[in-house]
Amino acid sequence: MALSSHLQCMCVALFVFGIWVSQATSRIIHESSMSENHEQWMTRHNKVYINSSEKERRRKIYNASVEFINSFNIKGDRKYKLSINEFADQTNEEFRASRNGYKSGSALRVYPTPFKYENVTAPPASMDWRTKGAVTPIKDQGQCGSCWAFSAVAATEGINQLTTGKLISLSEQELVDCDTSGVDKGCFGGEMENAFQFIQNYGLAVETLYPYKGVDGICNTVNASSNAANITGYEVVPVNSEESLLKAVANQPISVSIDASSNAFQFYSSGVFDGDCGTDLDHGVTAVGYGTSSDGTKYWLVKNSWGTSWGEDGFIRMQRDIGAVEGLCGIAMDSSFPIV
Ligand SMILES: *[C@@H]1O[C@H](CO)[C@@H](O)[C@H](O)[C@H]1NC(C)=O
Ligand SMILES: *[C@@H]1O[C@H](CO)[C@@H](O)[C@H](O)[C@H]1NC(C)=O
Ligand SMILES: *[C@@H]1O[C@H](CO)[C@@H](O)[C@H](O)[C@H]1NC(C)=O
Ligand SMILES: *[C@@H]1O[C@H](CO)[C@@H](O)[C@H](O)[C@H]1NC(C)=O
Ligand SMILES: *[C@@H]1O[C@H](CO)[C@@H](O)[C@H](O)[C@H]1NC(C)=O
Repeated sequence: MALSSHLQCMCVALFVFGIWVSQATSRIIHESSMSENHEQWMTRHNKVYINSSEKERRRKIYNASVEFINSFNIKGDRKYKLSINEFADQTNEEFRASRNGYKSGSALRVYPTPFKYENVTAPPASMDWRTKGAVTPIKDQGQCGSCWAFSAVAATEGINQLTTGKLISLSEQELVDCDTSGVDKGCFGGEMENAFQFIQNYGLAVETLYPYKGVDGICNTVNASSNAANITGYEVVPVNSEESLLKAVANQPISVSIDASSNAFQFYSSGVFDGDCGTDLDHGVTAVGYGTSSDGTKYWLVKNSWGTSWGEDGFIRMQRDIGAVEGLCGIAMDSSFPIV
């Protein structure tokens, strides 16, 4: 299948640096405390650099991240906060190159497709699939562009729990290693719908039998042949409709695609994310609920695959019903879900 658009890692990173004006002495203090700060951060995140020039390079990037995060939080004009996390020594460009990995194939699709939730009326005002036992703990894709596998697996874990009553953590690595005949390319990116096609054909092993390695491997056909979950097919959510997406998420966790390329997204820590972001879809995640925050802001509850130190214990709330058809960061542009 030809891939007509490949939106991975295309944007240019833009760091906004605060202007630092000071006397030489205060700068030395600032620099030494920044260096100490970086050392402590290295210890906390078990970071080791290959040599001193690499360490110096990473310290500068770390510094720029700290400056960006501080000036953002001091401005305080958004509904969310940023914080230093384990990604603070990576430029935004590096971060996107190593962490995202969604390949958009939406241009290939023919609409309309069947949509089993089209007639859903009056979905509940809020939903959180975590409280219904349909969401496994946050996972970490590591430095591998396998977001698409994590997104598809989380949606499959959800429908499997809803139909069998059992929450079973399923294997992303099976998709990374074995789903390689089409556009899906392991750590070099892929697409959730193609992953669902693979799962429909071959089922998926339990996580413990085919554990995550975070690198491309050779398909272990023996482990892959054990199916802890099966699906019978998949559907797409009508594009550019947060209303349709709501009908779907009201019924099961849904794979969604977003533009996660901004610095703000890299360092998101809490609150309702209300931008900045565009609509160049480069990341696959899973919508596992929705609701309204205490100040009345409507949000999507989204499960990410960047570990628990990012965001709200690994989750992000993203503003919902923003008045643009694509949704915030393009969240309504390219969604799909498994059916059984
Ligand atoms: C940190 O960044 C500021 C502004 O970008 C710069 O003036 C300062 O020298 C930097 N400090 C270190 C330790 O690199
Ligand atoms: C330090 O490591 C970097 C990254 O591997 C390498 O490019 C650089 O040449 C090394 N510098 C020294 C002084 O060894
Ligand atoms: C939705 O309702 C219409 C009209 O009653 C019906 O033709 C269609 O099959 C329904 N769709 C689904 C998915 O049930
Ligand atoms: C396959 O399963 C065996 C037995 O549990 C295990 O030793 C092996 O590491 C697994 N292989 C992969 C690629 O996960
Ligand atoms: C999935 O399907 C395969 C092949 O039909 C079957 O052997 C396996 O038992 C199924 N697994 C589950 C959990 O239903």
